[in-house]
Amino acid sequence: MSEEPLGQETGGPLPEWAPPEIDRTKAHPARIYDYLLGGKDNFDVDRDAAEVALAAMPELRAMARANRAFLGRAVRHLAEAGITQFLDIGTGIPGPGNTGEIARSVHPEARVVYVDYDPIVSAHSRALLSAADPALSAVVQADVREPKTILDNGAVHAVLDFAKPIAVLMVAVLHFVSDAEDAHTIAAQFVDTVAPGSALVVSHASEGHEAGKFGAAREGWNNATSRLVLRDRSQIEAFFAGTELMEPGVVIIPAWRPDHELGAEELALDYGHAGVGIKR
Ligand SMILES: C[S@@+](CC[C@H](N)C(=O)[O-])C[C@H]1O[C@@H](n2cnc3c(N)ncnc32)[C@H](O)[C@@H]1O
Repeated sequence: MSEEPLGQETGGPLPEWAPPEIDRTKAHPARIYDYLLGGKDNFDVDRDAAEVALAAMPELRAMARANRAFLGRAVRHLAEAGITQFLDIGTGIPGPGNTGEIARSVHPEARVVYVDYDPIVSAHSRALLSAADPALSAVVQADVREPKTILDNGAVHAVLDFAKPIAVLMVAVLHFVSDAEDAHTIAAQFVDTVAPGSALVVSHASEGHEAGKFGAAREGWNNATSRLVLRDRSQIEAFFAGTELMEPGVVIIPAWRPDHELGAEELALDYGHAGVGIKR
């Protein structure tokens, strides 16, 4: 959104759009991810965290791009399959190819609710949507670890009809929820609540072929608001309980219905898995 990189966390006025409650002393996952994707909506503290991670794991930028591309492919496939409602949890700072843009390229009247716990994401999303039809989209600041604050939220229900299929997107967000916080029960609550024909879209960080590498990279997140939890393919598959997995199942992120032939570099990006399940 902003043209220039944001300033020092200790100095310089906040950009006009940024809410006063944003914390510039801790790295935030949304802003680290924005930096990895080449965005400008991040602070020194986020860039420092990302650089620590990149030093340990140079593939992290390619992983971030592969993840964003997966989100795009999943939304397009589901929209083309007839889904017109999207609940995008852990939205991130909206960039080109965001959920609404892709969904509406297939269904101009697609309904999209963006949920994130980070006030800076909500500010960006609201600015982006200020001209949008309020009947078709909403921005909700909520924490996925408290599913009821999303599932019982009036603003969510004002846009999405829970009697009809909804694609629930949890793309690169569940790895910020620990087992102690019941990540699998949280996903199950969403699956239980949505109507048959709804979809669950998940991507999630994993250990990968160079054991310990992601573990070292996430030390960059040490001072961040959320720690990253790595899960293996079978633990990620377990998020899809109560759904039928679409082909090709839970696979490394670039390999979910790729739109081009994957090269060796992409096939080596096994530091995360993704899948899409349909509730029957
Ligand atoms: C890596 S970004 C992913 C953005 C987008 N889903 C994508 O894949 O392109 C993770 C996002 O999840 C959000 N997030 C992390 N923990 C969360 C939580 N407990 N509740 C809601 N959002 C959360 C972060 O603020 C960030 O925007």
